[in-house]
Amino acid sequence: MNFKDDSSVFIPYIPPIYIYPLFCYDFRAKKNFYREMNKLKTRMKSNNCGELNLSNLNQEVTLSGWVSTVRDLGGILFIELRDRSGFFQLVANPQINPDVHKAFEKVRSEYVIMVKGKVTKRPEETYNEKYPTGQVEMYPDTVEILAESKVLPFVLGDESVSEDIRLKYRYLDIRNEKMLHNLKTRHNIVQAVRNYLNNQDFLEVETPILIKTTPEGARDYLVPSRVQPGKFFALPQSPQIFKQLLMVGGIEKYYQIAKCFRDEDLRADRQPEFTQIDMELSFVEQQDVINVVEGLLVDAFKAAGVEIKPPFKQISWQEAMDRFGSDKPDTRFGLELFDIGDIILESNFEIVKNTLLNGGIVRGIRIPGGAKYSRKDIDDITKLAVSFGAKALANIIYLEDGTAKSPVLKFVTEEQAKRIQERAGAQAGDIIFFVADKPKLVYDIMGRLRLHFGKTLNLIDENKHNLLWVVDFPMFEWSDEEGRFMAMHHPFTSPNLEDLDKLDSGDLGNVKSIAYDIVYNGTELGGGSVRIHSSEVQKKIFKALGLTEEEAAEKFGFMVNALQYGTPPHAGLAIGLDRLVALLCRTDSIRDVIAFPKNASAKDLMSDAPGEASLQQMRELHIKSTVKKEG
Ligand code: AMO
Ligand code: AMP
Repeated sequence: MNFKDDSSVFIPYIPPIYIYPLFCYDFRAKKNFYREMNKLKTRMKSNNCGELNLSNLNQEVTLSGWVSTVRDLGGILFIELRDRSGFFQLVANPQINPDVHKAFEKVRSEYVIMVKGKVTKRPEETYNEKYPTGQVEMYPDTVEILAESKVLPFVLGDESVSEDIRLKYRYLDIRNEKMLHNLKTRHNIVQAVRNYLNNQDFLEVETPILIKTTPEGARDYLVPSRVQPGKFFALPQSPQIFKQLLMVGGIEKYYQIAKCFRDEDLRADRQPEFTQIDMELSFVEQQDVINVVEGLLVDAFKAAGVEIKPPFKQISWQEAMDRFGSDKPDTRFGLELFDIGDIILESNFEIVKNTLLNGGIVRGIRIPGGAKYSRKDIDDITKLAVSFGAKALANIIYLEDGTAKSPVLKFVTEEQAKRIQERAGAQAGDIIFFVADKPKLVYDIMGRLRLHFGKTLNLIDENKHNLLWVVDFPMFEWSDEEGRFMAMHHPFTSPNLEDLDKLDSGDLGNVKSIAYDIVYNGTELGGGSVRIHSSEVQKKIFKALGLTEEEAAEKFGFMVNALQYGTPPHAGLAIGLDRLVALLCRTDSIRDVIAFPKNASAKDLMSDAPGEASLQQMRELHIKSTVKKEG
C-alpha cells in the first residue's frame, strides 16, 4: 500500500466521546498510586513521618524515627518525631495513654523510637503551619525505644558550631535539615543527568581507579604495589585517557559519574577527592558537545528548581581576560576593565611606559562614586592589590567640581587625562584604579579587584543564573617556575588546526586550542576539548611540551599507540558535580554537598585519615618512611 496515496489509507472515525476521557485521566495520580503501592512498608515503619496529613485520619500507622524534641506542657508530653521525610507530633497524656506517657518520660532528644497508633486531627487552634503534618498528630497506643542516645556534642543545625566539630561528627551533622536537603538535591541532579544522558544514547562505563598516571597536571595520589616492589599506581585525576580509549574502542558516547583524585592546594571549591560528570563523544565537533551539555544543564538545574535558557553566550578567552580579568568571569555585574596602554605610551609616565614596552599591559577599573574614598580607604584597596601581587596601584579621582586628583597627573597631560577619563567612562564623583605589569599578573590582580568591588559594593544579584562558554583558549601557557610552556588544559587537547605551523616554528604562545569551559556565576563548572586523534599531531604536542620521545612513550605510550589504530574524531567535557550541586544549593563550600568530605588540610576529621601504617604494612609495600614517629 502506498501511504502517500491518501485515498488508500483507512482512518477510522473515533467519536470524540471516546477520546475525551483520555484527557481527563490523571496520569500523575496513577504514578503516585503505584509509588504508594511499591513503597517499602516494614514491621517497624508503615509510613513516613512527614507524609501524614488529614487524608490519613484514623489510619493505624507504625512510625519510627528520632526524637527531635520532648516538651512537657502541663503534664502532657509532646514529642516531635523526625525521620528523613519530616516531622510528626506525638502526644502522651497520663489520662489517655498512661503507659506511653510513662515511657516518654524516659525518652530524650535523639533517642530512636517506634510508635503505633491512629492518626488523629489536632484541635484547629493548635495547627502548626510550619510543617505539612501540622494538622495531625498521634496519641500512640504503644512505644518501643529502639536506641538510646548520648547528648549530642552540638545542637543540630546550629550555625555557630565550628565546621571542624561538624566534620568530626559528620554522621550527626547529616541529620541536620540543611545537609539532608543538600544530599537530596545532589541525588536529584545526578538522576536528572543520568536520565538525560541515557536518553541521548550514552553508555555509562566505569574506568579503573588504580592506574598509571593522568595528564591533568595536579599532583598524583600514589598507591604502592605490594607484588611489584618499588612500583606505584596513581589514582586518576580524571578518567581522561580511559574515556578517549573508549572512543578508540568504538563506544561513541560515554559517560560516568566519576571519582577523581588530585593532590593540590585545597580551597572552598576544591577537594582532594571529588566527582565529575564525565563524558566523551565520537564524530562530533565543539558545538555538538556544547549542545549536549547545554541540554544536560537545563535538566540538572531543573532538578534543583532553577530554569535556565540556552544557548549560552560564548566569549573568547582573550575577551574574557580583557573585560573581566578572568577566564571564569562573573557576568552578574559590570565594572568591566579597560585598557589605557595607548594613552600611557604617549605620556611621560616612564615607569609604566617601560613596563608596556617590555611586554606588559595596563588595565583599569572604574568605581562609580569612589571619589568619596578616604586616604585610608585607598590605602586599604592598595594593600589588597599588593596582596594579589601588585607592585603598585595607581588611582585618579574625578572630583565633583570637574577636576581630577592623582599623583600620576604629573606624568600625563590634561588632554591625556581627559582621554583616560573617557576611556574609563568616568563621571565626576568616580575613581579609577589601574595596574601595569606582565599580562597574567595584571589580569589576575584586576580580576580579583573587580570581584572584591562587586561583592563589597553589593553589585551581585544573587538571583541571577549567568552561564557562559569561554572558548578559544591558548593551547600553552608559560610557566615561570618550570621555565617552559605547559598545556593549558591537558596534552590531548587538539590545537586549532590553522595554528599547526606555529607548532613547527616554535611560536607556541600564539597557538590556540579547541577547548571550552562552561562558567556559572563566576565559577568554572566544567571544561573540555576536542581531542587530538592523530598520533603525528600528538607527538608534536609532546615535543612542544618538552617531553622527549622516550618520556612521552614511558608516560603515555599506550595512548599514542592506540591513536594509530583508527581513532575517530572525538571530544568531551567534564563537569564538577560537587561545584554544580554547591552552587545550586547556594552554599559557598563544596564540603556542604559531600557526605564525608576532607577538611582544608586534606584530612578526614571523623575517621582521622590519613593514618599511619604499621611497620609490617610498610615492609610488605617495600616502603621506608623518612618521617620520625612521635613519642
Ligand atoms: P578539569 O581539570 O577542568 O577537566 O576538571 C573538570 C571540572 O572538575 C571540577 N574540578 C574539581 N572539583 C572539585 N575539586 C577539585 N579539586 C576539582 N578539580 C576540578 C571543576 C572542573 O571544571 N579530563 C578533563 C575534562 C575533559 O577534558 O573532558 C578534566 O578533568 O568543576
Ligand atoms: P611616584 O612614585 O610618586 O613617582 O608615582 C608613581 C605612580 O605610578 C604612583 O601613583 C604609582 O602607584 C604608579 N605606578 C607605579 N608603578 C605602577 C604600576 N606598575 N602600575 C600602576 N601604577 C604604577
